[in-house]
Amino acid sequence: MITVIANLKGGTGKSTVCFNLAVWLRSTGHRATVIDLDPQKTLSDAAALRMDEGIQPSIQVQAGTFPDVTLPEDAEEIIIDVGTADLESFKQAIMIADRILIPVTPSQADIWSTQRFVGFLYKNTHGNPPEAITFLNRSDTNKSIQASDEAAAALEALPGVHLIPQRLSDRAVFRDSFSEGLAVFELEPRSVASREFKALAETLFAHVSRSVLGRLQKQKASTAVNPGLHRALATPSAKPGVAEKFGYMDLIPVPTLEEAHAEKMLEQQDIEVCASKEKKKRKKALKEKWGGKGMSAKKRKKAKKSKKHRKGKKGG
Ligand SMILES: Nc1ncnc2c1ncn2[C@@H]1O[C@H](COP(=O)(O)OP(=O)(O)O)[C@@H](O)[C@H]1O
Ligand SMILES: [Mg+2]
Repeated sequence: MITVIANLKGGTGKSTVCFNLAVWLRSTGHRATVIDLDPQKTLSDAAALRMDEGIQPSIQVQAGTFPDVTLPEDAEEIIIDVGTADLESFKQAIMIADRILIPVTPSQADIWSTQRFVGFLYKNTHGNPPEAITFLNRSDTNKSIQASDEAAAALEALPGVHLIPQRLSDRAVFRDSFSEGLAVFELEPRSVASREFKALAETLFAHVSRSVLGRLQKQKASTAVNPGLHRALATPSAKPGVAEKFGYMDLIPVPTLEEAHAEKMLEQQDIEVCASKEKKKRKKALKEKWGGKGMSAKKRKKAKKSKKHRKGKKGG
């Protein structure tokens, strides 16, 4: 699926969200590629920093302009970060998008800008725009401030966009993590920001989350995944939705088929080693029992028979 993260307005969090989504997708074992069409190349810088620091998983970013940038054929998910500075690439990205994700910060200027963007989408897709999903970014952390709720109400009423209820609050960790080449859930895994982000990512990529679960169910034998999750999935009462109890970071690393196979082979070898140790132990015990000489099967049978006979005599 091609998701284009766009807005006519700058500074609404497009690159930040794009980067975090890319890391999240890669962390959950998906072939995700980012296309950075914004001449500012903020996202490419963060990805380069991540690579320099050797942070895993690395994210694949292709930077450039359309039509020079080619879409990878093997990517499951493609996320495109666009900016208005390269309007031609912006328009072409919209044409190939399966959906547009519009981060909106809670201000009147943002609502107006989003409204204009909807018109722009219609105009540049000959009246046939892709699905446009919007959500509030940098929403107030102070409950007494109404700006976010008012912005949400305005977006809800806006035709042409679908507002999802998941919000990202205005939190410093979004800035701090990005400048270190990290996703929020990597820098502060237990933070509210991390929880909010995961909820957003899981909503946007529900189709991907489902396939992760399917893959896990097939790989119950693998030890690379949270054993708690395995137990939950293995119980008869496991309901669909049980996975929601687990953070997606708990699921990684999801092994590739080759890794799972290698693991299985190791397990098999372990079993064989144990079996051979057990065999040796039995042999040794037998030897000790029969005075180090060992006994043929025929003799053993005979000895057993006479033992039974003796027992029978005693009982009678
Ligand atoms: N949820 C958030 N909380 C706090 N700061 C944020 C959040 N989202 C983005 N930012 C900050 O806002 C600024 C603009 O974000 P950026 O992703 O560069 O926007 P865009 O790509 O739309 O221009 C950056 O300094 C970024 O760190
Ligand atoms: Mg940007």
